[in-house]
Amino acid sequence: MKAPTTTDPAPSAPALDVAAVRADFPALAQEVHGRPLAYLDNAATSQKPRAVLQALLHYYERDNANVHRGLHELSRRATEGYEGSRARLAAWLGAASPSEVIWTRGTTESINLVAASWGGANLRDGDEVLLTEMEHHSNIVPWQLVAERTGARLRYVGLDDQGRLILDQIQEILAGGRVKIAAVGHVSNALGTINPVAEIAALVHDAGALLLVDGAQGAAHHGVDVRALCCDFYALSGHKMCGPTGIGALWARAELLEAMPPYQGGGEMIDLVEKERSTWAALPHKFEAGTPNIAGAIAMEAAVNYLAGAGHDAILRHEQALVTYALERLREIPGIRLFGPEDPDERAGVVSFTLPEAHPHDISTVLDSEGVAIRAGHHCAQLVMRRFRVSATARASFYLYNTTEEVDRLVEGLHSVQSLFGGA
Ligand SMILES: Cc1ncc(COP(=O)(O)O)c(C=O)c1O
Repeated sequence: MKAPTTTDPAPSAPALDVAAVRADFPALAQEVHGRPLAYLDNAATSQKPRAVLQALLHYYERDNANVHRGLHELSRRATEGYEGSRARLAAWLGAASPSEVIWTRGTTESINLVAASWGGANLRDGDEVLLTEMEHHSNIVPWQLVAERTGARLRYVGLDDQGRLILDQIQEILAGGRVKIAAVGHVSNALGTINPVAEIAALVHDAGALLLVDGAQGAAHHGVDVRALCCDFYALSGHKMCGPTGIGALWARAELLEAMPPYQGGGEMIDLVEKERSTWAALPHKFEAGTPNIAGAIAMEAAVNYLAGAGHDAILRHEQALVTYALERLREIPGIRLFGPEDPDERAGVVSFTLPEAHPHDISTVLDSEGVAIRAGHHCAQLVMRRFRVSATARASFYLYNTTEEVDRLVEGLHSVQSLFGGA
């Protein structure tokens, strides 16, 4: 199956100049434990290009002021940067207007906003929320909290043996007629599976429900067009797409946001405050209570420009080439268990695996001693671990600056793990 929800890499798109890309990321030039760093933990967070670091520094050195409040020059500049970056992100996402983009702390906060605000106002006893067994805890727990408050029931779509959603189960659950919202990941952080979001959106909408997409991994690796995906809410994190930590966004159709109550109360989100009641600011500020992460929001423009400059098709092709190569090389390792779809076209740059002779934490520690950074654990996806009857996996995740040499170092490291822990 070809992943229908991402931009297919055009064969004519120029390939990435990986050496030039690497030179843009200062953190990649360092040694760790006496070896050049091979940073293969991008699904957790990406490294930052110099343009993003410079945007942060520039803001704090020259423009540091609160937004929307002061009538002085620095406040004007800060506001211009903050709102300009929102407009850039909105255009990048294919939003109808910048007011459809709410700045948040990240995907987790974006999903909490929708669950608490939309869910609190619209879910009733007996309604259902459709989730999947591949969701990150950030796309499970907020729904559990709102289900507890409203009496709604959570329904889960299962995974096949290759870690793909069982689409028939989506139809079966929707056929019950009780689902009000489905919340589905764009790309699984634990398996790498790319979900057919547009196809799911059509099913969900036919059933009269809404679709929220957890784009924490999707936005990092592909161009996102929210209109083409046909979703209703799209949540993303800046730090996984070359931006700073503590900044992210929620996109939603304006009419949905207009109808939703505020998520948090405080400064900036009001129009008029009286002793007993208040009225709300217009979108998007109704959802942005308090002083926001101004520097982070401003630096997101640099991150989006960087990714757009590298080219989404080129990034996707590069990652899929690395995954194809990594899967080939990892299959040489005796006893290795690989998780996720076999077809590289169905997955993003994430490879999860276990070895029979060593716990994932031991694998990660040995690799770290060789300068190779990977992640080990349940990846905040305990339902995935339960589905595949493991407590943890080791996970290598690639981004635009990774190389086949780094994949080779990963494989060499795994051979060292096996000799240390008594394997082949
Ligand atoms: C699929 C997915 N959803 C949600 C999140 C949470 O993102 P954040 O911690 O940036 O809010 C992550 C982070 O790993 C993720 O991979």
